[in-house]
Amino acid sequence: MTILGIDIGGSGIKGAPVDIHGGALADERFRVETPRPATPDAVLPVLTEVAAHWKDHNPAGVTFPGVVRHGVIGSAANLHPDWVGLDAARLFSEKLGRAVTVLNDADAAGVAEIAFGAGRNVRGVVLLITFGTGIGTALFVDGTLVPNTELGHLEIAGADAEVHASDRAREEGGLSWEDWAVNVERYLQHVERLLSPDLMILGGGVSKKADRFLPYVKVHTPVVPAVLQNNAGIVGAAMAASAHR
Ligand code: BGC
Repeated sequence: MTILGIDIGGSGIKGAPVDIHGGALADERFRVETPRPATPDAVLPVLTEVAAHWKDHNPAGVTFPGVVRHGVIGSAANLHPDWVGLDAARLFSEKLGRAVTVLNDADAAGVAEIAFGAGRNVRGVVLLITFGTGIGTALFVDGTLVPNTELGHLEIAGADAEVHASDRAREEGGLSWEDWAVNVERYLQHVERLLSPDLMILGGGVSKKADRFLPYVKVHTPVVPAVLQNNAGIVGAAMAASAHR
């Protein structure tokens, strides 16, 4: 049986059925641009459209780019604030006609990366950091997730870290990879001072271009690019849904 995974991101909403034992997509993924403003009313029809691509009624996992506590949205830095306080697990289950598990996007990517990617069999403190529209973090201790860490909002030099070190900051600021790497390095150094992780895994779209910036980033902690890259959120969402069954 495959389980549907859907990743709600700041720029796109993408889904695919997942073979959760193999950690791979079981079909080509389907993606629609995230509507702006990204209010619940605007996003819900898109979520339904993505899910309707697959006709079964198996459970589904959906990621959200904000704090998600037991299915309820706690923050929405890069989507509309109307999301805050919504019981997304209940709402999505009603709309999609399936049992839906909702979790933070970086946490979902981390769950997949720990099971099938760069964090596989790594003991100790592992931090996955996703660089996209925002910066997301997923913290694992001996493979167990500490959910909703939100370390992308650490204040560095008077600003929210994602203002300078997210991939959006690179694109919108027209920064070269080398210049952006300076901001990433400052961010990673700050994080390692706070957490002393055993491994940092860099995820999000930039993970497939790690050779462009990682050589310029000097930190003490081993740093590796994510292996599952942009599908990690979809795979992790499906894994979380499967664990909830
Ligand atoms: C949000 C996080 C999210 C990250 C990546 C941040 O702005 O606060 O919850 O994981 O962006 O989407």
